Amino acid sequence: MAGAGTRSLKGYRLKRFATKYGNFSTDGREYHINTPETPRPWINVISNGDYGLTLSQTGGGYSWRTHAQLNRLTRWEQDLIKDEWGKYIYLRDEKGDVWSAGWKPVCAKPDHYRCCHGIGYSTITSRRNGIETEVLVFVPRDEPCEIWKLTLRNLSSKPRVIDLFTYFEWCLGASPDWHREFHKSFIETSQQHGALFATKRLWEVPTDRGHWNIDWPYLAFHASSIKPSSYDCDKESFLGRYGSVAMPAAVKKGKLKKRAGNWLDPIASLKVNVTIPANSEKVVCFTLGAADSKEQAERLIQKYRSPKSVDTALEDVTTHWEKLLDTVKIETPDEAMNLMENYWLKYQAISGRLWGRTAYYQTGGAFGFRDQLQDSQIFLPIDPEKTRDQIRLHARHQFNDGTVYHWWHPITEVGLHTTISDDLLWLPFVVKSYLDETGDFTILDVEEPFVDGGERVPLYDHCARAIDCALVRFSKRGLPLIGAGDWNDGLSAVGLDMKGESVWLGHFLHRILPDFGDVAERRGDAARAASYRARAGKLKQTINAIAWDGEWFYRGTKDSGEKFGSSRNAEGKIYLNAQTWAVIAGVADEERANAVMDIIEKMLEHKAGPLLLTPAYKTPDKNIGYLSRYAPGMRENGGVYIHAAAWSVIAEAMLGRGESAFRIYSKLNPINRGKTPDEYYAEPYVTSGNIEGPDSPFYGRGGWTWYTGSAAWLFKVGLEWILGIRPSVDGLIVNPCIPRSWKTFTVRRQFRGATYRIEVNNPHGVEHGVAAYAIDGETPLCPGNRNLVILPVFEAGSTHLIVATLGPATGKK
Ligand code: GLC
Repeated sequence: MAGAGTRSLKGYRLKRFATKYGNFSTDGREYHINTPETPRPWINVISNGDYGLTLSQTGGGYSWRTHAQLNRLTRWEQDLIKDEWGKYIYLRDEKGDVWSAGWKPVCAKPDHYRCCHGIGYSTITSRRNGIETEVLVFVPRDEPCEIWKLTLRNLSSKPRVIDLFTYFEWCLGASPDWHREFHKSFIETSQQHGALFATKRLWEVPTDRGHWNIDWPYLAFHASSIKPSSYDCDKESFLGRYGSVAMPAAVKKGKLKKRAGNWLDPIASLKVNVTIPANSEKVVCFTLGAADSKEQAERLIQKYRSPKSVDTALEDVTTHWEKLLDTVKIETPDEAMNLMENYWLKYQAISGRLWGRTAYYQTGGAFGFRDQLQDSQIFLPIDPEKTRDQIRLHARHQFNDGTVYHWWHPITEVGLHTTISDDLLWLPFVVKSYLDETGDFTILDVEEPFVDGGERVPLYDHCARAIDCALVRFSKRGLPLIGAGDWNDGLSAVGLDMKGESVWLGHFLHRILPDFGDVAERRGDAARAASYRARAGKLKQTINAIAWDGEWFYRGTKDSGEKFGSSRNAEGKIYLNAQTWAVIAGVADEERANAVMDIIEKMLEHKAGPLLLTPAYKTPDKNIGYLSRYAPGMRENGGVYIHAAAWSVIAEAMLGRGESAFRIYSKLNPINRGKTPDEYYAEPYVTSGNIEGPDSPFYGRGGWTWYTGSAAWLFKVGLEWILGIRPSVDGLIVNPCIPRSWKTFTVRRQFRGATYRIEVNNPHGVEHGVAAYAIDGETPLCPGNRNLVILPVFEAGSTHLIVATLGPATGKK
């Protein structure tokens, strides 16, 4: 693992956050798993934005191009207990002993095992029978393929002869398991000069000449750097009739049958023989990909027959990631926070959520209107052009009436048009984030079409149509209608008759209206500015007048008018979002704001953070929706839903409650949850979607990792609300809200092309409040508001040192 290799040598010296299953490397950029038998698959999602793969610590996983469901290259079935679908390499030695380079599928006991997940690559190293194998897997930066670089080390003083057999099943598109007999008959496999090719004479996408009547437009390939001695594309001859992947008949015998064609149960297997002299090593590079043409396939096969090209491609990947991740670096007294903010949250949000859009607990591929817009905020401090692209993409999936697809599939462009009520509002919300970061108001003039045709209009109008559409869907009492759900998808039956109301949506809208009022004013659209501000004022009044439940805000009303999230309900009495957003959106006054945060701490906050609601629904409520149908304590039904729980950090920080903000952040941090891995189960280096709540017998168990909106939000709340370094149209804000025990921390961040090196000192042990600051050694003449500093916008390319000192607390922020 070139590049990665030198680093990891260092990494072995200090095992950070070690448990019985693994540890972070010293530099924090790798996670080392020391056994294949982790409580659940611990995976990496490696993608270049088009081609991608998942890889678990057992060697399981799948590959895709552009869309993980509609265009999957290799078959995979979602079974997290067995985890036995992968792209495997079997080894067979002189005595006929068979094992795999990963642990699955043979599961022979290794003498030593280590899976190392890095940023953009993974390696699995295993030792058995005096042979060490190291498989390095990665995806080159701009090419539709993956590489497995296998290093075989002969640890003995005798030469060894090893036969290698690769194996996986072709999928080539979408091929549901209940329809595989149908789909397999369209796949065509062939062999040429030792390389295997596969394509499909049908693609399951709609066309203007009917469904399912076009070719799969790619050519899949699988090749190796050492010329194979044999091959097979037939599952029956490879596994043997009623055979198993654990001990395929062909591997047992050491012979492949050289079958290919259109009539098989299609797989790919290459046999490569290697002789390794005593105490030395041999490298074999395998490729797998989906090319646009035969020429491209041949070029990629040829290119990656050279281990040197492989090393260069890996170097390119790691350097690229390093550049991306290096744009924001923090150094705080909390190591777990540093590792997550500096590397893993950014990596997860980009590689997993935006590029791969898939993982193990959920295989996706589509774009969620609200999901990937929120996720794209991760790029703001890294490369805001990418957020801009995402905004434009989503604008193109809006309808003329302002509504949007809930999700849509790239490739087919098929989408789901619903009455879910919040989706459309994430467009203006994220545009506002983009404006704060970049100050680039020209984005509002960029014209985009609507998904249902008609004129292209400027992005400003796309946003205004979204807001205006939301402003019409109101109840007579003056609260927004929830429709088929709001941020909480599981509230899917509350307002289907378009009568039920959402208090959370009221808060959310109240955040957007004044913000967009400012945008309108800057554009000279005074009438709109005034009307948005007036609606915001009215909304705030209404929510406070009718949605206050006595001690907290209820969550909404059903079509019947019955409240939910209210003290009157036996289950689902209190919901988190209705409280946190009352603070975030400035709906609650100071007293109510503190009261709801106190109630969160008292009723919702548990060892793994604040629950989304409590108590969990024990019996399904058909007027709530599928949320109430989950097992109690799981997912949105009374679990810690990390995406939403992260918002409570913002609310705490806005109120200056630094101890609480950090305590909650730390509880959500997977590194901390992962310290008790037999309870938590999930990967300690990426966030999970949810952690089971106290109503589950598996209280504390994490699940739905990788493919979750929590990564981008946890990153954002840590950097912007605990460390308090956040963008605004006027400049970068410094307004930390930290635990009293922190003496100092630093943040290095890009902002509008300049580098800000910020050092914050806390000599008096306070939670917030900047008492003094200096820029490049100079104290500004007008220090401004003691609590909140807005730094000037510096010339692009320049670097500046800002030293801020927190002072004794003199009251609220
Ligand atoms: C899932 C959805 C997301 C939604 C969340 C809460 O993560 O992808 O859009 O906001 O659940 O229901």
